[in-house]
Amino acid sequence: MIDRQRSDNRGRVKTRHTGYRSWIALCAFACLFNYPVGSAAAAATPVSNGSQPPASLQVLHWWTSAGERKAVDVMSSKLAEENIQWRDAAIPGGAGLGASKVLKSMVLAGKAPEATQLNGIVFGEWADLGLLLELDDVAAPGNWQKLLFPTVWSLVNNRGHVVAVPLGIHRINNLFYNKKIFDRLNLTPPKTWADFSRVAEKLRQAGITPLAQSSEAWQVATLFETLVLAESGPAYYRSLFVDLNPAAFGDPRMTHALKRLRSLKEWMPTPLRERPWPEMTRELANGAAAMFVMGDWAKGELLAWGLNTDQDFSCSTVPGTADYHLYSVDTLAMFAGDYSHQPAQEKLAQIIMSPPVQTAYNQVKGAISVWRSPDLSKMDSCARASWSAFSKGSAFQAPSLVHRMAADETAKDAIIAEVHRYFVDDKMSESDVQRKLASIARSVTKSGKQE
Ligand code: BGC
Repeated sequence: MIDRQRSDNRGRVKTRHTGYRSWIALCAFACLFNYPVGSAAAAATPVSNGSQPPASLQVLHWWTSAGERKAVDVMSSKLAEENIQWRDAAIPGGAGLGASKVLKSMVLAGKAPEATQLNGIVFGEWADLGLLLELDDVAAPGNWQKLLFPTVWSLVNNRGHVVAVPLGIHRINNLFYNKKIFDRLNLTPPKTWADFSRVAEKLRQAGITPLAQSSEAWQVATLFETLVLAESGPAYYRSLFVDLNPAAFGDPRMTHALKRLRSLKEWMPTPLRERPWPEMTRELANGAAAMFVMGDWAKGELLAWGLNTDQDFSCSTVPGTADYHLYSVDTLAMFAGDYSHQPAQEKLAQIIMSPPVQTAYNQVKGAISVWRSPDLSKMDSCARASWSAFSKGSAFQAPSLVHRMAADETAKDAIIAEVHRYFVDDKMSESDVQRKLASIARSVTKSGKQE
Protein backbone atom coordinates (compact mmCIF):
# COMPACT_ATOMS: atom_id res chain seq x y z
CA MET A 1 0.00 0.00 0.00
CA ILE A 2 1.44 3.39 -0.98
CA ASP A 3 0.14 6.47 0.82
CA ARG A 4 0.47 9.83 -0.90
CA GLN A 5 -0.53 13.18 0.49
CA ARG A 6 -1.72 16.45 -0.98
CA SER A 7 -3.98 19.31 0.07
CA ASP A 8 -7.47 20.15 -1.01
CA ASN A 9 -8.41 23.74 -1.80
CA ARG A 10 -9.09 24.47 1.85
CA GLY A 11 -5.54 23.54 2.70
CA ARG A 12 -6.40 20.28 4.44
CA VAL A 13 -4.01 17.42 3.86
CA LYS A 14 -5.56 14.50 1.99
CA THR A 15 -4.06 11.03 2.02
CA ARG A 16 -4.37 8.83 -1.02
CA HIS A 17 -4.38 5.10 -0.37
CA THR A 18 -2.99 3.66 -3.51
CA GLY A 19 -3.07 -0.12 -3.29
CA TYR A 20 -1.05 -2.44 -5.52
CA ARG A 21 -4.28 -3.74 -7.03
CA SER A 22 -5.17 -0.25 -8.14
CA TRP A 23 -1.85 0.23 -9.82
CA ILE A 24 -2.30 -3.07 -11.59
CA ALA A 25 -5.73 -1.89 -12.69
CA LEU A 26 -4.31 1.42 -13.89
CA CYS A 27 -1.60 -0.33 -15.90
CA ALA A 28 -4.22 -2.64 -17.40
CA PHE A 29 -6.33 0.35 -18.53
CA ALA A 30 -3.26 2.01 -19.95
CA CYS A 31 -2.36 -1.06 -22.00
CA LEU A 32 -5.93 -1.50 -23.15
CA PHE A 33 -6.28 2.05 -24.40
CA ASN A 34 -2.66 2.49 -25.36
CA TYR A 35 -2.20 5.44 -23.05
CA PRO A 36 1.00 6.20 -21.14
CA VAL A 37 0.43 5.73 -17.40
CA GLY A 38 1.95 9.17 -16.92
CA SER A 39 -1.09 10.92 -18.29
CA ALA A 40 -3.30 9.29 -15.67
CA ALA A 41 -0.82 10.15 -12.97
CA ALA A 42 -0.85 13.75 -14.20
CA ALA A 43 -4.60 13.88 -13.58
CA ALA A 44 -3.98 12.93 -9.99
CA THR A 45 -1.04 15.27 -9.33
CA PRO A 46 -1.74 18.33 -7.23
CA VAL A 47 -1.23 21.62 -9.07
CA SER A 48 -1.86 24.53 -6.77
CA ASN A 49 -4.29 25.76 -4.18
CA GLY A 50 -6.40 28.87 -4.24
CA SER A 51 -7.37 29.02 -7.92
CA GLN A 52 -10.75 30.59 -8.66
CA PRO A 53 -13.63 28.12 -8.67
CA PRO A 54 -14.77 27.72 -12.27
CA ALA A 55 -18.38 28.32 -13.02
CA SER A 56 -18.95 25.11 -14.88
CA LEU A 57 -18.76 21.37 -14.37
CA GLN A 58 -18.43 18.80 -17.08
CA VAL A 59 -20.65 15.82 -16.23
CA LEU A 60 -20.26 12.50 -17.99
CA HIS A 61 -23.28 10.15 -17.99
CA TRP A 62 -25.44 7.94 -20.17
CA TRP A 63 -28.84 9.54 -19.63
CA THR A 64 -29.93 10.20 -23.20
CA SER A 65 -33.56 9.02 -23.43
CA ALA A 66 -36.51 11.41 -22.99
CA GLY A 67 -37.11 10.53 -19.32
CA GLU A 68 -33.41 10.53 -18.53
CA ARG A 69 -32.97 13.97 -20.15
CA LYS A 70 -35.75 15.37 -17.99
CA ALA A 71 -33.98 14.02 -14.92
CA VAL A 72 -30.74 15.69 -16.01
CA ASP A 73 -32.66 18.94 -16.52
CA VAL A 74 -33.82 18.88 -12.90
CA MET A 75 -30.20 18.87 -11.73
CA SER A 76 -28.74 21.19 -14.35
CA SER A 77 -31.40 23.87 -13.87
CA LYS A 78 -30.87 23.89 -10.09
CA LEU A 79 -27.14 24.15 -10.68
CA ALA A 80 -27.72 27.07 -13.05
CA GLU A 81 -29.55 28.89 -10.25
CA GLU A 82 -26.23 28.80 -8.41
CA ASN A 83 -24.45 30.24 -11.46
CA ILE A 84 -22.78 26.97 -12.26
CA GLN A 85 -23.12 25.57 -15.74
CA TRP A 86 -23.66 21.81 -16.22
CA ARG A 87 -21.59 20.91 -19.30
CA ASP A 88 -23.05 17.73 -20.67
CA ALA A 89 -20.92 14.78 -21.79
CA ALA A 90 -23.72 12.35 -22.58
CA ILE A 91 -22.62 9.03 -24.05
CA PRO A 92 -25.54 7.03 -25.49
CA GLY A 93 -25.86 3.36 -24.67
CA GLY A 94 -28.23 1.72 -22.18
CA ALA A 95 -26.64 0.54 -18.93
CA GLY A 96 -23.60 2.72 -19.62
CA LEU A 97 -21.53 0.34 -21.71
CA GLY A 98 -20.13 3.13 -23.89
CA ALA A 99 -19.89 5.66 -21.07
CA SER A 100 -17.65 3.50 -18.91
CA LYS A 101 -15.15 3.07 -21.78
CA VAL A 102 -15.15 6.79 -22.59
CA LEU A 103 -14.62 7.59 -18.93
CA LYS A 104 -11.54 5.36 -18.69
CA SER A 105 -10.08 6.95 -21.81
CA MET A 106 -10.68 10.47 -20.52
CA VAL A 107 -9.09 9.73 -17.16
CA LEU A 108 -6.08 8.10 -18.76
CA ALA A 109 -5.68 11.06 -21.10
CA GLY A 110 -5.60 13.36 -18.08
CA LYS A 111 -8.97 14.85 -19.04
CA ALA A 112 -11.22 13.49 -16.33
CA PRO A 113 -14.65 15.17 -16.22
CA GLU A 114 -15.42 17.02 -13.02
CA ALA A 115 -18.35 14.71 -12.30
CA THR A 116 -19.38 11.34 -13.64
CA GLN A 117 -22.14 8.81 -13.35
CA LEU A 118 -20.11 6.02 -11.80
CA ASN A 119 -22.32 3.29 -10.46
CA GLY A 120 -21.51 0.51 -8.11
CA ILE A 121 -18.50 -1.05 -6.56
CA VAL A 122 -16.16 0.26 -9.26
CA PHE A 123 -15.87 3.67 -7.65
CA GLY A 124 -14.03 2.09 -4.73
CA GLU A 125 -11.25 1.35 -7.21
CA TRP A 126 -11.24 4.89 -8.57
CA ALA A 127 -11.21 6.21 -5.02
CA ASP A 128 -8.29 3.93 -4.12
CA LEU A 129 -6.38 5.48 -7.00
CA GLY A 130 -6.85 8.79 -5.24
CA LEU A 131 -8.83 10.26 -8.10
CA LEU A 132 -12.13 11.03 -6.39
CA LEU A 133 -13.09 14.03 -4.33
CA GLU A 134 -14.09 13.12 -0.79
CA LEU A 135 -17.48 14.60 -0.04
CA ASP A 136 -17.37 14.32 3.75
CA ASP A 137 -17.81 18.09 4.13
CA VAL A 138 -21.21 17.81 2.48
CA ALA A 139 -22.17 14.42 3.92
CA ALA A 140 -21.44 15.16 7.58
CA PRO A 141 -23.45 18.39 7.96
CA GLY A 142 -26.16 16.88 5.77
CA ASN A 143 -26.44 13.95 8.20
CA TRP A 144 -26.26 11.45 5.34
CA GLN A 145 -25.29 8.56 7.58
CA LYS A 146 -28.48 8.83 9.59
CA LEU A 147 -30.86 9.80 6.80
CA LEU A 148 -29.82 7.56 3.92
CA PHE A 149 -30.91 3.97 3.56
CA PRO A 150 -28.07 1.95 5.18
CA THR A 151 -27.42 0.10 1.89
CA VAL A 152 -26.94 3.42 0.11
CA TRP A 153 -24.77 4.84 2.86
CA SER A 154 -22.38 1.87 2.75
CA LEU A 155 -22.33 1.99 -1.06
CA VAL A 156 -21.04 5.57 -1.20
CA ASN A 157 -18.39 4.98 1.47
CA ASN A 158 -14.84 4.00 0.78
CA ARG A 159 -12.36 3.56 3.64
CA GLY A 160 -14.40 5.83 5.88
CA HIS A 161 -14.91 8.60 3.29
CA VAL A 162 -17.91 9.48 1.18
CA VAL A 163 -16.79 9.31 -2.45
CA ALA A 164 -20.04 9.60 -4.41
CA VAL A 165 -23.43 11.30 -4.31
CA PRO A 166 -26.40 8.93 -4.56
CA LEU A 167 -29.19 10.12 -6.85
CA GLY A 168 -31.90 7.51 -6.71
CA ILE A 169 -32.71 3.83 -6.28
CA HIS A 170 -33.99 1.91 -9.28
CA ARG A 171 -35.94 -1.32 -9.00
CA ILE A 172 -35.17 -3.89 -11.68
CA ASN A 173 -37.67 -6.69 -10.98
CA ASN A 174 -40.66 -4.77 -12.36
CA LEU A 175 -43.24 -6.31 -14.60
CA PHE A 176 -44.75 -3.34 -16.43
CA TYR A 177 -48.04 -3.94 -18.14
CA ASN A 178 -50.24 -2.02 -20.53
CA LYS A 179 -53.23 -1.21 -18.34
CA LYS A 180 -55.65 -0.51 -21.18
CA ILE A 181 -54.97 -3.88 -22.79
CA PHE A 182 -55.24 -5.70 -19.48
CA ASP A 183 -58.54 -3.95 -18.68
CA ARG A 184 -59.94 -4.58 -22.15
CA LEU A 185 -59.11 -8.29 -21.99
CA ASN A 186 -60.11 -8.52 -18.34
CA LEU A 187 -56.66 -9.71 -17.26
CA THR A 188 -54.87 -9.27 -13.95
CA PRO A 189 -51.09 -9.11 -13.63
CA PRO A 190 -49.68 -12.62 -13.13
CA LYS A 191 -48.45 -13.55 -9.66
CA THR A 192 -47.13 -17.02 -10.53
CA TRP A 193 -45.50 -18.50 -13.62
CA ALA A 194 -48.60 -20.59 -14.29
CA ASP A 195 -50.64 -17.35 -14.27
CA PHE A 196 -48.06 -15.78 -16.51
CA SER A 197 -48.50 -18.47 -19.16
CA ARG A 198 -52.31 -18.18 -18.98
CA VAL A 199 -52.20 -14.39 -19.37
CA ALA A 200 -49.60 -14.61 -22.15
CA GLU A 201 -51.71 -17.14 -24.05
CA LYS A 202 -54.75 -14.83 -23.92
CA LEU A 203 -52.67 -11.93 -25.13
CA ARG A 204 -51.31 -13.97 -27.98
CA GLN A 205 -54.81 -15.02 -28.99
CA ALA A 206 -55.71 -11.32 -29.08
CA GLY A 207 -52.83 -10.72 -31.51
CA ILE A 208 -50.62 -8.91 -28.99
CA THR A 209 -46.99 -9.77 -28.23
CA PRO A 210 -47.15 -10.86 -24.58
CA LEU A 211 -43.66 -9.81 -23.52
CA ALA A 212 -41.51 -7.02 -25.00
CA GLN A 213 -37.83 -7.95 -25.15
CA SER A 214 -34.67 -6.92 -26.98
CA SER A 215 -31.86 -9.37 -27.64
CA GLU A 216 -29.24 -6.82 -26.55
CA ALA A 217 -26.96 -8.66 -24.11
CA TRP A 218 -27.46 -6.40 -21.08
CA GLN A 219 -31.24 -6.45 -21.53
CA VAL A 220 -31.30 -10.24 -21.72
CA ALA A 221 -29.13 -10.40 -18.61
CA THR A 222 -31.37 -7.88 -16.82
CA LEU A 223 -34.28 -10.28 -17.37
CA PHE A 224 -32.12 -13.22 -16.33
CA GLU A 225 -31.05 -11.74 -13.00
CA THR A 226 -34.71 -11.20 -12.08
CA LEU A 227 -35.41 -14.83 -12.95
CA VAL A 228 -32.57 -15.94 -10.69
CA LEU A 229 -34.07 -13.89 -7.87
CA ALA A 230 -37.53 -15.30 -8.62
CA GLU A 231 -36.15 -18.82 -8.44
CA SER A 232 -34.31 -18.46 -5.21
CA GLY A 233 -34.50 -15.21 -3.23
CA PRO A 234 -31.70 -12.80 -2.27
CA ALA A 235 -29.45 -15.22 -0.31
CA TYR A 236 -28.78 -17.56 -3.22
CA TYR A 237 -28.66 -14.59 -5.60
CA ARG A 238 -25.84 -13.09 -3.52
CA SER A 239 -23.90 -16.34 -3.37
CA LEU A 240 -23.88 -16.29 -7.17
CA PHE A 241 -23.28 -12.69 -8.10
CA VAL A 242 -21.71 -11.12 -5.01
CA ASP A 243 -19.69 -14.03 -3.58
CA LEU A 244 -19.14 -15.58 -7.01
CA ASN A 245 -19.24 -18.98 -5.37
CA PRO A 246 -18.40 -21.45 -8.18
CA ALA A 247 -20.43 -24.26 -6.60
CA ALA A 248 -23.58 -22.10 -6.59
CA PHE A 249 -23.55 -21.97 -10.39
CA GLY A 250 -23.99 -25.76 -10.53
CA ASP A 251 -27.13 -25.64 -8.36
CA PRO A 252 -30.47 -26.84 -9.78
CA ARG A 253 -31.91 -23.38 -9.06
CA MET A 254 -29.56 -22.00 -11.69
CA THR A 255 -30.71 -24.68 -14.13
CA HIS A 256 -34.32 -23.66 -13.52
CA ALA A 257 -33.62 -19.95 -14.01
CA LEU A 258 -31.84 -20.68 -17.30
CA LYS A 259 -34.69 -22.87 -18.51
CA ARG A 260 -37.19 -20.18 -17.56
CA LEU A 261 -35.21 -17.61 -19.55
CA ARG A 262 -35.30 -19.80 -22.62
CA SER A 263 -38.95 -20.73 -22.20
CA LEU A 264 -39.98 -17.06 -22.04
CA LYS A 265 -38.81 -16.67 -25.63
CA GLU A 266 -42.11 -18.23 -26.59
CA TRP A 267 -43.86 -15.00 -25.59
CA MET A 268 -41.37 -12.52 -27.03
CA PRO A 269 -41.42 -10.77 -30.42
CA THR A 270 -40.17 -12.77 -33.39
CA PRO A 271 -37.67 -12.30 -34.79
CA LEU A 272 -35.98 -11.10 -31.65
CA ARG A 273 -33.78 -8.11 -32.48
CA GLU A 274 -31.21 -5.98 -30.69
CA ARG A 275 -33.14 -2.84 -29.93
CA PRO A 276 -32.48 -0.03 -27.45
CA TRP A 277 -34.59 -0.18 -24.31
CA PRO A 278 -36.65 2.98 -25.12
CA GLU A 279 -37.86 1.25 -28.31
CA MET A 280 -39.04 -1.72 -26.27
CA THR A 281 -40.73 0.68 -23.87
CA ARG A 282 -42.47 2.20 -26.90
CA GLU A 283 -43.86 -1.24 -27.80
CA LEU A 284 -45.45 -1.42 -24.36
CA ALA A 285 -46.78 2.14 -24.66
CA ASN A 286 -48.36 1.69 -28.08
CA GLY A 287 -49.85 -1.69 -27.25
CA ALA A 288 -47.77 -3.79 -29.64
CA ALA A 289 -46.61 -5.65 -26.51
CA ALA A 290 -48.48 -5.99 -23.23
CA MET A 291 -45.77 -6.70 -20.62
CA PHE A 292 -42.15 -5.65 -20.15
CA VAL A 293 -39.56 -6.61 -17.54
CA MET A 294 -37.22 -3.65 -17.08
CA GLY A 295 -35.71 -1.28 -14.54
CA ASP A 296 -38.05 1.54 -13.62
CA TRP A 297 -36.15 4.04 -15.78
CA ALA A 298 -38.72 2.67 -18.28
CA LYS A 299 -41.41 4.29 -16.13
CA GLY A 300 -39.54 7.60 -16.42
CA GLU A 301 -39.75 7.18 -20.18
CA LEU A 302 -43.47 6.41 -20.20
CA LEU A 303 -44.15 9.47 -18.03
CA ALA A 304 -42.00 11.67 -20.26
CA TRP A 305 -44.16 10.62 -23.21
CA GLY A 306 -47.25 11.82 -21.34
CA LEU A 307 -48.58 8.44 -20.19
CA ASN A 308 -50.02 8.03 -16.70
CA THR A 309 -49.38 5.44 -14.02
CA ASP A 310 -52.40 3.19 -13.39
CA GLN A 311 -54.26 4.63 -16.37
CA ASP A 312 -52.06 3.75 -19.33
CA PHE A 313 -49.63 1.40 -17.64
CA SER A 314 -49.06 -0.14 -14.21
CA CYS A 315 -46.26 -1.91 -12.41
CA SER A 316 -46.31 -5.33 -10.92
CA THR A 317 -43.34 -7.53 -10.08
CA VAL A 318 -41.84 -10.52 -11.86
CA PRO A 319 -43.62 -13.62 -10.45
CA GLY A 320 -41.97 -14.78 -7.24
CA THR A 321 -40.25 -11.45 -6.52
CA ALA A 322 -42.99 -9.27 -4.97
CA ASP A 323 -41.21 -9.13 -1.60
CA TYR A 324 -37.81 -8.42 -3.07
CA HIS A 325 -36.04 -5.41 -4.43
CA LEU A 326 -33.47 -6.01 -7.15
CA TYR A 327 -31.78 -2.63 -7.01
CA SER A 328 -29.43 -0.34 -8.83
CA VAL A 329 -28.39 2.96 -7.23
CA ASP A 330 -27.31 5.78 -9.54
CA THR A 331 -24.41 7.78 -8.18
CA LEU A 332 -22.29 10.73 -9.29
CA ALA A 333 -18.63 10.77 -8.33
CA MET A 334 -16.43 13.86 -8.62
CA PHE A 335 -12.86 13.82 -9.86
CA ALA A 336 -10.60 15.78 -7.50
CA GLY A 337 -8.17 17.02 -10.18
CA ASP A 338 -6.33 20.03 -8.74
CA TYR A 339 -9.28 20.77 -6.41
CA SER A 340 -10.10 23.98 -8.27
CA HIS A 341 -13.64 22.72 -8.90
CA GLN A 342 -14.26 21.63 -5.34
CA PRO A 343 -16.73 24.40 -4.37
CA ALA A 344 -18.84 23.81 -7.47
CA GLN A 345 -18.66 20.05 -7.04
CA GLU A 346 -19.74 20.29 -3.41
CA LYS A 347 -22.57 22.58 -4.43
CA LEU A 348 -23.75 19.98 -6.96
CA ALA A 349 -23.64 17.31 -4.25
CA GLN A 350 -25.70 19.51 -1.91
CA ILE A 351 -28.24 20.25 -4.62
CA ILE A 352 -28.72 16.59 -5.49
CA MET A 353 -29.27 15.68 -1.86
CA SER A 354 -31.79 18.40 -1.10
CA PRO A 355 -35.20 16.76 -0.47
CA PRO A 356 -37.09 18.81 -3.14
CA VAL A 357 -34.51 17.89 -5.80
CA GLN A 358 -34.55 14.25 -4.69
CA THR A 359 -38.32 14.24 -5.09
CA ALA A 360 -38.39 16.05 -8.42
CA TYR A 361 -35.47 14.11 -9.92
CA ASN A 362 -36.79 10.69 -8.91
CA GLN A 363 -40.32 11.44 -10.06
CA VAL A 364 -39.10 11.96 -13.61
CA LYS A 365 -36.33 9.35 -13.50
CA GLY A 366 -38.75 6.62 -12.36
CA ALA A 367 -36.65 5.80 -9.29
CA ILE A 368 -37.15 6.45 -5.57
CA SER A 369 -35.30 8.84 -3.29
CA VAL A 370 -32.20 7.65 -1.45
CA TRP A 371 -33.58 9.19 1.76
CA ARG A 372 -35.19 6.66 4.08
CA SER A 373 -38.22 8.88 4.74
CA PRO A 374 -39.14 10.63 1.51
CA ASP A 375 -42.40 12.44 0.86
CA LEU A 376 -44.64 9.46 0.07
CA SER A 377 -47.49 11.71 -1.06
CA LYS A 378 -45.42 12.63 -4.14
CA MET A 379 -44.96 8.98 -5.18
CA ASP A 380 -47.12 6.98 -7.58
CA SER A 381 -48.11 3.37 -6.84
CA CYS A 382 -44.98 1.98 -8.56
CA ALA A 383 -42.65 4.16 -6.49
CA ARG A 384 -44.49 3.34 -3.26
CA ALA A 385 -44.21 -0.40 -3.94
CA SER A 386 -40.51 0.03 -4.65
CA TRP A 387 -40.00 2.08 -1.47
CA SER A 388 -41.89 -0.47 0.69
CA ALA A 389 -39.85 -3.38 -0.65
CA PHE A 390 -36.52 -1.56 -0.28
CA SER A 391 -37.44 -0.40 3.24
CA LYS A 392 -37.71 -4.01 4.40
CA GLY A 393 -33.93 -4.08 4.63
CA SER A 394 -30.99 -5.96 3.21
CA ALA A 395 -32.51 -9.45 3.59
CA PHE A 396 -35.02 -8.44 0.90
CA GLN A 397 -32.61 -6.53 -1.30
CA ALA A 398 -30.56 -7.97 -4.15
CA PRO A 399 -27.85 -5.89 -5.84
CA SER A 400 -28.12 -5.88 -9.62
CA LEU A 401 -25.25 -7.66 -11.34
CA VAL A 402 -25.94 -6.07 -14.72
CA HIS A 403 -26.14 -2.57 -13.28
CA ARG A 404 -22.83 -2.89 -11.39
CA MET A 405 -24.03 -3.33 -7.83
CA ALA A 406 -22.75 -6.87 -7.26
CA ALA A 407 -19.48 -7.69 -9.01
CA ASP A 408 -16.68 -5.85 -10.79
CA GLU A 409 -16.73 -5.11 -14.53
CA THR A 410 -14.71 -8.19 -15.51
CA ALA A 411 -16.99 -10.68 -13.76
CA LYS A 412 -20.14 -8.84 -14.82
CA ASP A 413 -19.19 -8.66 -18.49
CA ALA A 414 -18.10 -12.31 -18.63
CA ILE A 415 -21.33 -13.55 -17.00
CA ILE A 416 -23.52 -11.37 -19.24
CA ALA A 417 -21.73 -12.69 -22.35
CA GLU A 418 -22.30 -16.35 -21.37
CA VAL A 419 -25.95 -15.86 -20.47
CA HIS A 420 -26.51 -14.03 -23.73
CA ARG A 421 -24.83 -16.81 -25.71
CA TYR A 422 -27.10 -19.37 -24.04
CA PHE A 423 -30.14 -17.22 -24.78
CA VAL A 424 -29.45 -16.83 -28.50
CA ASP A 425 -28.12 -20.36 -29.12
CA ASP A 426 -30.85 -22.91 -28.41
CA LYS A 427 -28.37 -25.74 -28.85
CA MET A 428 -26.34 -24.77 -25.81
CA SER A 429 -27.31 -26.88 -22.79
CA GLU A 430 -27.89 -25.57 -19.28
CA SER A 431 -25.07 -27.72 -17.91
CA ASP A 432 -22.69 -26.23 -20.49
CA VAL A 433 -23.43 -22.67 -19.50
CA GLN A 434 -23.41 -23.56 -15.80
CA ARG A 435 -19.93 -25.05 -16.17
CA LYS A 436 -18.74 -21.92 -17.97
CA LEU A 437 -20.22 -19.61 -15.36
CA ALA A 438 -18.63 -21.62 -12.56
CA SER A 439 -15.27 -21.40 -14.28
CA ILE A 440 -15.63 -17.61 -14.68
CA ALA A 441 -16.39 -17.39 -10.95
CA ARG A 442 -13.37 -19.57 -10.16
CA SER A 443 -10.97 -17.54 -12.28
CA VAL A 444 -12.23 -14.16 -11.10
CA THR A 445 -12.05 -15.08 -7.42
CA LYS A 446 -8.62 -16.70 -7.89
CA SER A 447 -7.17 -13.65 -9.60
CA GLY A 448 -8.29 -11.67 -6.57
CA LYS A 449 -10.48 -9.32 -8.57
CA GLN A 450 -13.49 -9.94 -6.35
CA GLU A 451 -13.07 -9.27 -2.68
C1 BGC B 1 -28.82 3.24 -14.91
C2 BGC B 1 -30.02 4.10 -15.18
C3 BGC B 1 -30.27 4.22 -16.66
C4 BGC B 1 -30.34 2.83 -17.28
C5 BGC B 1 -30.62 2.81 -18.77
C6 BGC B 1 -28.92 1.92 -15.65
O1 BGC B 1 -27.72 1.20 -15.51
O2 BGC B 1 -28.72 2.96 -13.53
O3 BGC B 1 -29.87 5.39 -14.64
O4 BGC B 1 -31.44 4.95 -16.88
O5 BGC B 1 -29.13 2.14 -17.04
O6 BGC B 1 -29.55 3.31 -19.49
